[in-house]
Amino acid sequence: MAYQRIRVWDLPTRVFHLLLILGIAGSLITVLASDDLMVWHGRCGLFLLSLLVWRLIWGLVGGHWSRFVHFIEHPKAAWQTLQNHRSGVHEPSIGHNPLGAWSVITMLCVFLLQAATGLCSDDEVAFSGPLTAYLPAIWVKRASWYHSEIGQPLIWTLIVLHVAVIVYYRWKLKDDLITPMISGDKNWPSPEHQEPLTQSLDTWGRRTGALLLLGALTLLIFYVLPL
Ligand code: HEM
Ligand code: HEM
Repeated sequence: MAYQRIRVWDLPTRVFHLLLILGIAGSLITVLASDDLMVWHGRCGLFLLSLLVWRLIWGLVGGHWSRFVHFIEHPKAAWQTLQNHRSGVHEPSIGHNPLGAWSVITMLCVFLLQAATGLCSDDEVAFSGPLTAYLPAIWVKRASWYHSEIGQPLIWTLIVLHVAVIVYYRWKLKDDLITPMISGDKNWPSPEHQEPLTQSLDTWGRRTGALLLLGALTLLIFYVLPL
């Protein structure tokens, strides 16, 4: 069987993933390490917010396999993938499979909500989010409660689940999702006479555009929401 090389994850999507890991690690370490690092916690959070808004835009204009329309399917499809796993059937996908797609959407929503509630949170000791001054005290209390008591354990759970599933795919289902997230490419069986498969466009022009977009969003968010 011949194989075709497909660019699945463009460089901006891969860099997004790496920066997301660093940003989440940074905001968790700064908050757990010391009260003195809370301003850095806020900075990591604002950067994560810029990154997440960037990913929403990249989901509309990014490389083919990074676009939401090319990976979000009806929840029934995700349910079917889960059923297939239970009965030991696994069909690799080029981009995110329907189950993976919903886990990506869940992560993006939970992280966005975490950043949004962080803006409205107050630890009553060392640091408060930039929107707390404009909100009634009860909202600040609720946002802080969600941010600490719900968002925090939810994020830990999602990360552990995410990594566990990737490891399960790699070693149990023999489906290596990690290499394409690093190199960008996947080898896909291509029977003779089949149409070439769609590649994610990953030119230097688009990469530069992605970087400028992230830079502009970061500057805007740090300017509008000063710590
Ligand atoms: C803080 C930790 C992490 C977070 C928050 C995170 C989050 C995410 C998100 C949001 C995506 C979707 C990417 C997109 O379409 O834009 C993703 C995909 C992916 N992540 Fe992570 N990730 C984390 C750690 C890791 C680690 C440690 C690994 C390696 C073991 C990993 C491997 C992958 C892979 C292989 C995919 C692509 C999955 C697929 O092909 O459907 N992630 N991750
Ligand atoms: C996705 C990004 C974020 C993550 C993962 C995150 C995570 C956390 C965690 C784990 C805590 C500790 C709660 C505890 O000690 O019980 C916390 C507290 C806090 N965070 Fe964030 N945070 C994020 C974004 C932000 C942002 C953008 C701000 C404000 C600019 C912020 C402001 C705060 C404040 C004020 C607290 C103290 C809340 C309290 O003690 O009730 N966070 N955050």
